[in-house]
Amino acid sequence: MSIPFSTFASSIRVETAFSVLAVAKLLKSEGKDVVELEIGDSPFSTPAVAVDAAARAIREGQTRYGPSLGMPEYRAAAARYVNREYGLNVAAENVIAGQGAKIFEQLFCEAFLNPGDGVLVFSPHFPTYPPNIERRGARVVLSRLEAAREFRPDPAEVRRFIDRDPSPRAIFLNSPHNPTGGVATLDDFRAIADAVRDTEVVILSDEPYDRMVWKGRHHSPLEVPGMMERTVAAYTFSKSFSMSGWRLGFAVSDARIIDMMGKLTNTTLSCVPPFVQMAGIAALDNASDERDRTMQEFKRKVELLVTALGRLDGITCAMPVGSFYVFPSVAGVCNRLGITSHGLAMYLLEGADEKRGVACLGGECFGDAGAGFLRLSCAEPDERLTQAVDFIADAVTRGDRVKKYLAAHPEYRLAAGYPAS
Ligand SMILES: Cc1ncc(COP(=O)(O)O)c(C=O)c1O
Repeated sequence: MSIPFSTFASSIRVETAFSVLAVAKLLKSEGKDVVELEIGDSPFSTPAVAVDAAARAIREGQTRYGPSLGMPEYRAAAARYVNREYGLNVAAENVIAGQGAKIFEQLFCEAFLNPGDGVLVFSPHFPTYPPNIERRGARVVLSRLEAAREFRPDPAEVRRFIDRDPSPRAIFLNSPHNPTGGVATLDDFRAIADAVRDTEVVILSDEPYDRMVWKGRHHSPLEVPGMMERTVAAYTFSKSFSMSGWRLGFAVSDARIIDMMGKLTNTTLSCVPPFVQMAGIAALDNASDERDRTMQEFKRKVELLVTALGRLDGITCAMPVGSFYVFPSVAGVCNRLGITSHGLAMYLLEGADEKRGVACLGGECFGDAGAGFLRLSCAEPDERLTQAVDFIADAVTRGDRVKKYLAAHPEYRLAAGYPAS
C-alpha cells in the first residue's frame, strides 16, 4: 500500500544543485572525471582558528543543548560583526543563531505568513524560496530581474506588488544575488523602503554572499532607517568562511521579531550546537584577513571563468557584480542545438563524453526567468576551470552526441527558441 503524502510534500520542488551533485558523485564513483561546478561551495579550508575553537569547545564539554536564540557570546559577536562591516547599531538581542542561512527562509515564513498571503520573489530565484512560502499556504508572486538593470530588484515592481496584490505581505530580497550575481544598491533599498513604509509588508533579506561584492560594496536594507522593524537579514558562514558543512549562520532583526524566531526554533531544531557557535565566534573575530584573501581568490576565479567562457561562440558572459557564480547566456548554443539550458547542463555532465564531464546547472533551476542561461560556480582549482571551458567548447560542436542525448532525454528538447541576449 502506498500511503499518500501531504499535498505540500507531494508537490515539493527541491534544490536541483543537490540532485545534480548526487548524479556527479555517482558518475565519479563509476570512474568518470567530473569538473564539479554545480554547487555553490568553497574549495578552500575552514579557517584554522575556527577548527581549533570548535575542538577546544568539544573538549571543554560544550556538547549539550544551548539557548534556542544562540549563545549570548555568539549573538554579541555577530552583532559586532554587522556593526563593524555595515555600520549598523545592533546588539546581541537583535541576533539569532541558525543552521546556515536557509533555515531563516522557513522561520521568516512561519513568523509572518498566513495562507493566501502574497510574497514577492524576484526571479531567477533561489529554489528553496517557493517551498518555504508554500509550506505556509502563501502565494509566490514572481517578478523578473532584468539583465538591463544588472539583475537588481526594481523598486517599481515592489510598488506594483503593493498596489495590485490582494494581500501583499512579504518580499524576498537576495543581494548579492544567486544565480545572476546582481547586487542591489543602497538607493535601491531606499526606494524599496519608501514603497513599503506605512504597510505591513515585511522583508527577508537573504545575504549569504555579503563578502563577495566585486564592484562597490555590500549593502543591507537594514542600513535604511526604519527598516529594522520589518526586515530579517540572514547571514551564513558557508560562503565567507568556507564552513558550509558546519551549518552555521545568523539573522539580524528587531528584538521582538528575533524573540519570535527563537520560539519557532525552540519548537523545531532546538538550538545550534554550542561548539559550532564557538567556531563561528573565532571566525568572526579572528579570521577576517584570511576571509578577505579567500574572497580575492574567488574574484580572480570568477574573472578567469568569465573571460574563458566569453571567448566561446554562442555564449555571452558578463562579469557578475557579486557572488562566486558565473551566469552566461547560452541561448545561442541552445537554439542551434535544439536543447534546453538545463538539458545542455545535463548533456555536459552525462552525454558529451564517456570519460569526462562538467557539472553545472541550467538557469531554469532558478525559475523560468533563468531559462537560456547556465550557472557555474568557481569551486574547483583554476586548471580545472580552464579544462571545463575547453570541454564545453568541444562538447557543443558534437552535434551527433547531442542528438543521441536528446533521443534518450526528449524532455530536454527545446520547443521554442530562447530570445537572443
Ligand atoms: C541565495 C541563497 N540563500 C541561502 C543559501 C543557503 O545557505 P546555507 O547553506 O548557509 O544555509 C544559499 C546557498 O547556496 C543561497 O545561495
